[in-house]
Amino acid sequence: MNTSPRPERTALAGSDAENCNTSANPAFGDVLEARLSRRNALRLSVGSAGAAVLGTVGLSACGGGGDAAPPASVPLALNFAAVPKSTADAVSVPAGYTAAVLFALGDPIAAATPDYRNDGTDGDFDNRAGDHHDGMEYFGLNATGTARDAAGSTRGLLVQNHEATSHAGARAGFPTEYASTYVHANGGTNTLPRPAAEVDKEVALHGLSIIEVSRNAGRFSYDKASAYNRRVTPLTAMRISGPARGHALMKTKHSVAGTDARGTLNNCGTGTTPWGTFLTGEENFAGYFTRSATDNADRAAAGDARSVVSLNRYGRSQGAASRHAWETGGPADAYARWNISALAGQPADGSGDYRNELNTFGWVVEMDPYDKAQAIRKRTALGRFAHESATFGLRTAGKPLAVYMGDDSRGEYIYKFVSAAAWSEADANPANRITTGDKYLDSGRLYVAKFNADGSGDWIELDIANAAIAGYATYAFADQADVLVNARLAADAVGATKMDRPEWCAVHPVTGEIYYTLTNNSNRKVEPTGSQMAVDAANPRAYSDSYGGGAPGAPGNIHGHIIRMKEAGGEGAATRFSWDVYLFGAEAGADAARVNLSALTAEQDFSSPDGLWFSPKTGLCFIQTDDGAYTDVSNCMMLAGIPGQVGDGAVVPLEYTKADASKLVVNARVGAKPTAATLRRFLVGPVDCEITGITETPDGKALFVNIQHPGESILQADIADPSRYTSHWPGNAGYGAGGANARPRSATIVITRDDGGVIGVSGDRFLNNN
Ligand code: FEO
Ligand code: CA
Ligand code: CA
Ligand code: CA
Repeated sequence: MNTSPRPERTALAGSDAENCNTSANPAFGDVLEARLSRRNALRLSVGSAGAAVLGTVGLSACGGGGDAAPPASVPLALNFAAVPKSTADAVSVPAGYTAAVLFALGDPIAAATPDYRNDGTDGDFDNRAGDHHDGMEYFGLNATGTARDAAGSTRGLLVQNHEATSHAGARAGFPTEYASTYVHANGGTNTLPRPAAEVDKEVALHGLSIIEVSRNAGRFSYDKASAYNRRVTPLTAMRISGPARGHALMKTKHSVAGTDARGTLNNCGTGTTPWGTFLTGEENFAGYFTRSATDNADRAAAGDARSVVSLNRYGRSQGAASRHAWETGGPADAYARWNISALAGQPADGSGDYRNELNTFGWVVEMDPYDKAQAIRKRTALGRFAHESATFGLRTAGKPLAVYMGDDSRGEYIYKFVSAAAWSEADANPANRITTGDKYLDSGRLYVAKFNADGSGDWIELDIANAAIAGYATYAFADQADVLVNARLAADAVGATKMDRPEWCAVHPVTGEIYYTLTNNSNRKVEPTGSQMAVDAANPRAYSDSYGGGAPGAPGNIHGHIIRMKEAGGEGAATRFSWDVYLFGAEAGADAARVNLSALTAEQDFSSPDGLWFSPKTGLCFIQTDDGAYTDVSNCMMLAGIPGQVGDGAVVPLEYTKADASKLVVNARVGAKPTAATLRRFLVGPVDCEITGITETPDGKALFVNIQHPGESILQADIADPSRYTSHWPGNAGYGAGGANARPRSATIVITRDDGGVIGVSGDRFLNNN
């Protein structure tokens, strides 16, 4: 029996939470520093449309162009009993629902590829499911499978991200591990150089998968032999599109013209376009690359000290080691490209090495899932940062389209893109989908959000013509494409608001309000030092929590919150918005005045919201967690809610006492507290997992959810001893090889109601007739 200590999952959070925002952007004037004389909550003013009723939402303003007009008012009622918190190594869903595994790590997607043995001896990963299933979208097919049918609910394409793989990485007290432990027979090689065969397997575990799924007798399965099936990996050819195409910053040895890129990486959230294509966000890409210990000086000698500012801001300081040491796999470019150092003797413009390779990642990528012949595009007009999802606002014919996006690192920003082209309904079903993407996503304006203490907000355009950007002392922008490549620096320059790790965004299908999960931020402080951030109105909480009966940890925003925004005039192109907080994550028993501001009950409490999605069929809001702070009590989970709207709650003053005994007051704008009728836990996952990725058939009767990295905490030394795995799911649920001793696998599940009804709600009047 191996008795070596097992690192806690919380220690793994670092790669998702890098803090590279050292800009001086303050907490703005939204923190009241005063002695508070009154503690009663101030009522928020509720606009004339503020008529959300508990348990119902008036569904009257459909903007989902192309859908049938909804009924004037649809009463929504949650039709399931809340799922209790659980630490069982299993997926729990409400009584009356069934969750079945559909597609797990290693499952074959080509006729000739054998079933997954799940013992580390499998090969051919270009024809298997990747690892760490993440964001996911469903694209309907017609009955014969020959063409897109946006309303097709019996046959479709399931497209998803494979974000990363489970490995130990670098953790205090343990030797650094590079290998993706579960996919190698002996847990992989952690000495350098890494064997090419191991690197090849791990690279192929990343990227995207497209599978054809169909419903037969009420049960979904995927077709292993479908011609639509496809893997996209970090080696798949892609086109740089939009303003940065051909720019000097994009030149690499792979594409001297700066017009092409190799692959996509660390794909996290997703999106769909109104014209039927798939969007994926490249998130924590930087960690896969290494820079030499002398690279700052080498770049300065090449006349390019400026690039060092950019690299540091995007998380690659000189001397940084790469996550998997893939650069050691061999001399070929496919390995060398993971070393982004400026190599001696190579041209200063970057055409002879991979010094600019990092600039080819960090984008929203668009793919036509129906057509393998169309080049996949990196949409540079949408800006470069650690992208999560990309979500369109409600659309109106003749008006530009808005796309909402977040940058997930501590203290990063919320962004939106507004297309130059005005929406035409004819483009909802175009002859060529990807060139329709060129029309809407290659030119437009990129904005970053600034939240004011009074509940208002400003979208600030990231434009080279802005004097704050053109004259930014920290980084001299060359042109607008440089602003997009270095969007974080441009956002610093204009004083955007540092947020508590923006994860997914979702747009309410009726109100058009924009919701963002802010997953957590250990660096949110009352009295910040260094790169920490001060509490402010939009990120108002700093509090302690304990784990597993231990002493309370350092204060921060441990459990995260969900902020929502309402565009001025309901216009996607607005430059002003109002906002409040839909929900504050908290433990049900936490201090109601300071921490559990949304008064979450045991049937509702959660930590670290991440995935966020509204059902187009029902309008239900699904919240998924990626948590390491409440996992002593429950594994990660998914909740379903019926939100109201901005301004339906109250302003709650939070008073903090500083070290010098002076008071700091921050006004939290707390949305209407949920009730048992408007928020319930719907699902709890297996041990050490994250719940992420969600989509449904257009009829709302099959819900696809991803279970990412069950049993993530694993050391190479423990691979031979299954008792050391923290999870054996889904093998222990009877899926695939291995049974109760199986190596854990990320997997897609499909949830159906046993009576065949629409997921989550009772009633028969919905937002669309699909
Ligand atoms: Fe991949 Fe920010 O979660
Ligand atoms: Ca706790
Ligand atoms: Ca995420
Ligand atoms: Ca996450």
